This record gives sequence, C-alpha cells and structure tokens, in this order.
Amino acid sequence: RNVSLIGAPTDVGASARGASMGPEALRVARIGPLLGEMGLQVEDRGNLTGPANPWLPPVEGYRHFDEVLAWNRAVHEAVYAELCGGRFPILLGGDHCLGLGSVSAVARHCREAGKKLRVLWLDAHADFNTDQITPSGNIHGMPVACLCGFGPQPLVEIGGHVPSVSPKWVKQIGIRSVDAGEKQLLHDAGLEVFDMRYIDEMGMRHTMELALATLDANTHLHVSFDVDFLDPSFAPGVGTTVMGGPTYREAQLCMEMIADTGRMASLDIMELNPALDVRNRTAEVAVDMVQSLFGKSTLVRRAPR
Ligand code: ARG
Ligand code: MN
Ligand code: MN
Ligand code: MN
Repeated sequence: RNVSLIGAPTDVGASARGASMGPEALRVARIGPLLGEMGLQVEDRGNLTGPANPWLPPVEGYRHFDEVLAWNRAVHEAVYAELCGGRFPILLGGDHCLGLGSVSAVARHCREAGKKLRVLWLDAHADFNTDQITPSGNIHGMPVACLCGFGPQPLVEIGGHVPSVSPKWVKQIGIRSVDAGEKQLLHDAGLEVFDMRYIDEMGMRHTMELALATLDANTHLHVSFDVDFLDPSFAPGVGTTVMGGPTYREAQLCMEMIADTGRMASLDIMELNPALDVRNRTAEVAVDMVQSLFGKSTLVRRAPR
C-alpha cells in the first residue's frame, strides 16, 4: 500500500500549546521507517503551512476561528489530493480541530468514488460541542459536530456538501469526558458512543465487533485517533488527559481488530503534545498503535474465527 504522511503542525484549536510539535515527534519516533519495514510504501510529504497561533481568548464562542479555518482548508486539500492519487493519507497532527479538514476530504472522496464511509473516532472526548454549548471555545472540541452539520457555515461547508457525514456513519470509542450540553446534542443527533462504561461492562472485543459490524467490501474506513484515547498512565503526552482510558492491551486489541477488517483507508494521529511528554514515550506508543492498525500483532496461534 502507498502511504503518505502529511504533517499539520498547529495547536490553534487546542487548550494547551504544544500539539504543533506532534508531527516532528512522530517522525523522531520513526513512524515512516517503521511502517516501511512493515512493507508499506511510505512517502513523507512534509508539513503543511498555515497561520501562527495568536493565543487569544475566544470571540463569540470560538477561539482562533480564522486560523482554524485556514488550517482545515489546507488539510482538506492535502488529504483529498492523496486520496485522488490512490494513496493512503496519514495526517500527523496537530490538534483535533483538523479532523474536520481530514474527514471532510475523505467524505468528498467517498461521494465521488461511490464508497460507503465509516468513521471510527477514538478519543476520551466526543468533540461534539458548538459555540452555544462549549465550555472553552476551543475548536478541537467541535470537529465531529461540524462534520455532522452542527457549526458555523464556513467550517460546516468545508467539504462542499452539508453535512459532510451522517451521524450514523460515526462510531466513537473510549469516550469518558463529555460536557453537559454536548451530551444532549450527541443523544439528539443519534451518534453511537461506545463509552468507557460500555467497554468496562462488555469488553473491548465485543465493543469493536459492534463498532465494525456495518463494514462491507465497498467501505472506506477512516480512523481518527486522538492520542488522549489511551490511558494517560502510559500515554501522558497530550493536552487534555482523562484518567480511566483503555489499557495498553485493550488499545492494542482495538487497533488489531481494525486491522483485521482490511478496510482502513485513511488515518489521523492527533493531539500528541511533545511539550507534555516524557522522553517522547507517548509518540513511541502512538507509533506502536499505528503499527497495529497496519497489521502488527502479537497473534501467534492461528487467527481466530
Ligand atoms: N470538551 C472539552 C472542550 O470542548 C474538551 C475537548 C477536548 N478535545 C480534544 N480533541 N482533545 O473544550
Ligand atoms: Mn479511493
Ligand atoms: Mn479529540
Ligand atoms: Mn480528546
């Protein structure tokens, strides 16, 4: 498979500075060479450019609206171009506001190619806020809402079709921090949320079986991996840590079961914050997880099922 790495070094959508260094930390953790060793043809497209982080307070419910829009437009075009070239884009974030540019590009590609789209949102957070209900004004808490058509016109329209995705196409995994208004909107919109309580009660295997149940041979599966999905005990390098995430083994199983489908066709690695990391350990864990997404496995016995 032909894989393209796209760096998006910005933190304009976040509450803490530092996710702008994420792409380089992933490269230092050897994401390209390690995927290459797995037999993938990897091209590093380098970094996108965009406005600096002005670090200003929110205005009318949004912090850095213009900067977020500019970065998302750049991400959208870059991801879309790779898909048109028949390549597998991996977006190296950057904060999670850029999931909007990435997933909208994938949705546009799927519309044009007649593909069924499914999105797995691996995250501690639902990222389903709007300007009316956000506690922070940080747009990294809003991309899923924008993708589903809830948000300001310029962001919602970024993929040329409103909404970019139907809430029914999105499955969220690992969720454990959702704001009150956000929870209500999530319920009203009808997203399927496999929260940590569900994973506790049913286990990761059953969770992933359900989350992946609607894939077929014509499905493009997009994975948006917010590194704060992982439990902060082994992945501390993120701006918005929430205790009680998937363990290392649970997360590995999640990734391996995604790989088993053979349907993953695009990926975001978001919210890695090297300024908060310990000797790049979280970048290394993230790369380890990505290797599992591409088929690295501890499976030795014959494959189950
Ligand atoms: N729900 C909080 C907010 O809206 C936190 C969002 C965190 N999002 C993220 N991509 N890390 O501000
Ligand atoms: Mn394609
Ligand atoms: Mn997120
Ligand atoms: Mn998150």
